[in-house]
Amino acid sequence: MEKKRLIIGMSGASGAPITVELLRQLRQYRENAQNISSGAEAIQEIETHLIYTKGAEMTLKQETDCSIEELHRLADVVYDNGNIGAGPASGSYKTLGMIVVPCSMKTVAGIVSGYSDNLLLRAADVTLKERRKLVLVARECPLGTIHLRNLYELSQMGAVVLPPMLSYYNHPQTVEDCTRHIVGKILDQFGIEGQEFHRWTGEE
Ligand SMILES: Cc1cc2nc3c(=O)[nH]c(=O)nc-3n(C[C@H](O)[C@H](O)[C@H](O)COP(=O)(O)O)c2cc1C
Repeated sequence: MEKKRLIIGMSGASGAPITVELLRQLRQYRENAQNISSGAEAIQEIETHLIYTKGAEMTLKQETDCSIEELHRLADVVYDNGNIGAGPASGSYKTLGMIVVPCSMKTVAGIVSGYSDNLLLRAADVTLKERRKLVLVARECPLGTIHLRNLYELSQMGAVVLPPMLSYYNHPQTVEDCTRHIVGKILDQFGIEGQEFHRWTGEE
């Protein structure tokens, strides 16, 4: 089965638990894929390639019980954000696309202006120029005019702006339910079914 690389960029906005849950679900998805016969077409073997910023290290510590070592273990490949010579820095390095989760307003500004001074920003730039899927789980509250302008421009450039917004139609009971719902919405962008993702099925 051909491995599909999915780049996960983690920057220093609030929302580190979303990244942890996303990586955990993708790991399980991959393990399930390995257990399914190679004849199964619907399931792909996803390989997670993680790049995280210094800011993300801070929010991981602040917002989760997950250590940086555990975060590394959840991903298949981890890059140094300063290594601008790594695979994701080139368009010839094939990927399914990239998710920036959470995506800070500083990273939004870097992507929209093409200011690729670290590997995460360069990988996002490459994803856009290659017309691959770029999903930005952009988080700030409230959003300022600069943020909104940058996000609008990124949307026009083809990025999917997917803020980690609350929803109530799925009747969340815990913050973990809210996290899983956002993870489900992110995975939907790549045709992957999230765990305990409660879809709206129409009014009853
Ligand atoms: C606990 C914590 C929460 C933060 N939350 C946000 C946020 O939700 N959105 C945001 O844009 N920046 C947030 N910041 C600020 C960013 O981390 C900061 O702007 C940083 O320079 C972003 O750099 P990076 O994108 O390279 O990670 C937060 C910082 C801390 C320490």
